[in-house]
Amino acid sequence: MDRRTFAKMLTGLMTATALPRSLQAESVVGDQTAFIQALEEKPWLLGYLGTRETELRAEFRFLHGRVPPELQGYFFRNGPAMHNIGSDRFGHWFDAPGMVQRFAFADGTVSHHGRLVETARNVAEAKAGSILYSAYGTHGHGLKSGGSADGQNVGNISLVHHAGELLALWEGGSAHVIDSDTLGTEGRKDWSLETTGLPFGAHPRIDQDGSMWNIGYSTDPAALILYHISPEGRLEQTHILPQTATPMIHDFMITASKIVIVAPPYAAFNIASDTFANRFEWMANQPTQILVIDKNDLTEISIVETEPFWVFHFGNAYDINATEIGFDFAQHENPNFISKDAFAVMDGSWDGKSSAASRYVQARVNLAKKSVSFQKAPEFGQVEFIQTDSRENLAHHRFVIMLAETSGTDIFGFNRLLLLDRSSGKIAHFDVGATEILEEHLIVPKSDREGEFWIIGTALDWQSGATNLSVFEGINLAGGPVFKAELDIALPLGLHGTFLPT
Ligand SMILES: [Fe+2]
Repeated sequence: MDRRTFAKMLTGLMTATALPRSLQAESVVGDQTAFIQALEEKPWLLGYLGTRETELRAEFRFLHGRVPPELQGYFFRNGPAMHNIGSDRFGHWFDAPGMVQRFAFADGTVSHHGRLVETARNVAEAKAGSILYSAYGTHGHGLKSGGSADGQNVGNISLVHHAGELLALWEGGSAHVIDSDTLGTEGRKDWSLETTGLPFGAHPRIDQDGSMWNIGYSTDPAALILYHISPEGRLEQTHILPQTATPMIHDFMITASKIVIVAPPYAAFNIASDTFANRFEWMANQPTQILVIDKNDLTEISIVETEPFWVFHFGNAYDINATEIGFDFAQHENPNFISKDAFAVMDGSWDGKSSAASRYVQARVNLAKKSVSFQKAPEFGQVEFIQTDSRENLAHHRFVIMLAETSGTDIFGFNRLLLLDRSSGKIAHFDVGATEILEEHLIVPKSDREGEFWIIGTALDWQSGATNLSVFEGINLAGGPVFKAELDIALPLGLHGTFLPT
């Protein structure tokens, strides 16, 4: 790949605000007043209120059990946090500056520290006291483009620990290096001169040899980028897959021999639209494509077409044999959550119901027959934030956990934590209180033995106005947490995390 291709990609990224003002649509900057009014009627919106602090240190009140003394490490979480800056409010849930929350487990105790991901954009806006730049779904009021993708980078989606570095990840631009002790941002992660500033996805995958694969997507010019980074953190290989209209691809998978990219028919046809979000169009009659790429030859691609669906997150993928691949994921009917609901939470107009059903699905792809079969589990209800045991990466994994929203109730948000043993088909679950909204939980190995793990995660109790932290023994999930404590503040609802043993 030549330098000019990269240079072209870089200048074309996220330049929606380069449009003349006359072509810019009406402002979609969120409405603080409307949100605050809605919050009075719908207290479950608390998780979208956001913080105005750049640093948080909360105290814990122990509710139940004790911190297992053998649990030692940092549980990091990331997510959009500063939804309001001055009198401005972001228009979309994914737009706010990210904040890393750290829950430090040490010798039977736990402590909290949160700090803004100090991207150039986040620092400039916090200092200015107003929103300065366009974001994924926020536009108008003369907001600036920031000049490049990283000019809009809020670093708010996820975290990965690789080659001794903790990286805060966004989707449209660079990763940022975070000091795991101070939570200070050390700077932008530049893998090479040529790839500096290019999109680096939020869900990289770690290979058996410790190397890291990732994707990025660019809408103008339309392209998918593949990255392969050595266990030591060196960029080994990049490859560009040109697209006609780039599909939005939030997560992907690897097996021992292949890279698996699922491309929903949600593609960037409207390059001249007012926001990045509005570039994308859902084509309900077009197939979802499964791209299977040979890791040893990134130009070797098989495409299998299937029914249209949207997907945010996958569990784990594995080779079944030379021509078959298995994986699991949360399948959504369409991308209405990001195109509708995640706007509506910001002005408070959301009714709390997902606009599209999401189901746990196990897939089997046959590359010889170019076919795929799905085993769906609608009985789990709406599901998301699927996680597997990292020790089972790339293998025919046994355990998967996910958040579920039980049907037939007026309860808002994910209130069920579900563990599936795929080898036996056994399901265990634990329901939190009706006023608690679960956030992503992680599987954290407890010992060297298979099936011995902790399940760790947070939830927001919107009634008490406090975020809580729970630790479950994996196999005894149904018995409830072995430890639960409540912070003295409500953290903004976040996205993804990682656990770093110490
Ligand atoms: Fe994600």
